[in-house]
Amino acid sequence: MAKSNILVTGSLGQIGSELVTALNQKFSPDAVLSSDIQTPPAGYPNEFALLDVTDPEKLENCIHKHSITTIYHLVSLLSATGEKDPQKAWQVNIGSLKTVLDLAVKYHLKVFWPSSIAAFGPNTPKDQTPQDTIMQPTTMYGVTKVAGELLCQYYHQKYGVDIRSLRYPGIISWKTEPGGGTTDYANYMFFKAVKNEAYVCFLSKDTQLPMMYMDDAIKATLDLMAAPAEKLTVWTSYNLSAFSFTPERLHAEISRHLPFSVTYSPDFHQPIADSWPHSIDDSVARRDWNWSPEYNFSRFVTVMLKFLKSPHV
Ligand code: SER
Repeated sequence: MAKSNILVTGSLGQIGSELVTALNQKFSPDAVLSSDIQTPPAGYPNEFALLDVTDPEKLENCIHKHSITTIYHLVSLLSATGEKDPQKAWQVNIGSLKTVLDLAVKYHLKVFWPSSIAAFGPNTPKDQTPQDTIMQPTTMYGVTKVAGELLCQYYHQKYGVDIRSLRYPGIISWKTEPGGGTTDYANYMFFKAVKNEAYVCFLSKDTQLPMMYMDDAIKATLDLMAAPAEKLTVWTSYNLSAFSFTPERLHAEISRHLPFSVTYSPDFHQPIADSWPHSIDDSVARRDWNWSPEYNFSRFVTVMLKFLKSPHV
């Protein structure tokens, strides 16, 4: 297969670490350059660049040196971390995206960039949130996602950049711990449950949010990037959905498999979660590039517990 020269930024993060594995399988580890601001573990399978993406010169040198043709630009501060340091969230999330888009024009790069359900706000319709709707987020993370979506669309229309994006729901996985998100409570519930430890949830028991198992998020990312450009009608970011649940429902489902105790102590994460949709209408993604998730709620819980209990099977 032809060498693809793919760069993944934020490659040691929750999504990056699994996307690199999937890209290695789809292309080959030789085709995938991984980068992050931390160093990878010993035995890491890919060539690695220690890279701060807020430094445009370093990023350009990397793209030039490795003849990069495609970037998955995953670097981002998430919602809770972003509220603790809004200036840094803007600088990292938007500053680096602007640099990537400018370099995409110069080097004719194809780009993937993640948006989020956080791009919606308290006055967005909460149930089956449509593709095109009111977007007035109240977190800095959400502000960077709306601004980023518009920037992507602008670079597509003005310069013809092939930049594709998904509004990820909360993503749950067992391989790498997430960091700094509001939907992360769901990940922590699983990690605590398999260790037989009680969990204190930072959201109220009835907070319903859209969620997805990691494998479906990776599948969606690869499918969107492989879709013929002429089929795509959205150049901001596609709504994407699998299932929604509340902490109480997840607790009940996990408890069908093993004994598990959860108490609720909502904190500063609660108003963030309250500003987001309950469920998402992803019919445009289904129509344009045949999106369809493979995991429903109960299959996802079963698979998460199985892998967390026996990671090497
Ligand atoms: N999972 C993200 C967060 O909770 C939302 O995109 O911040």
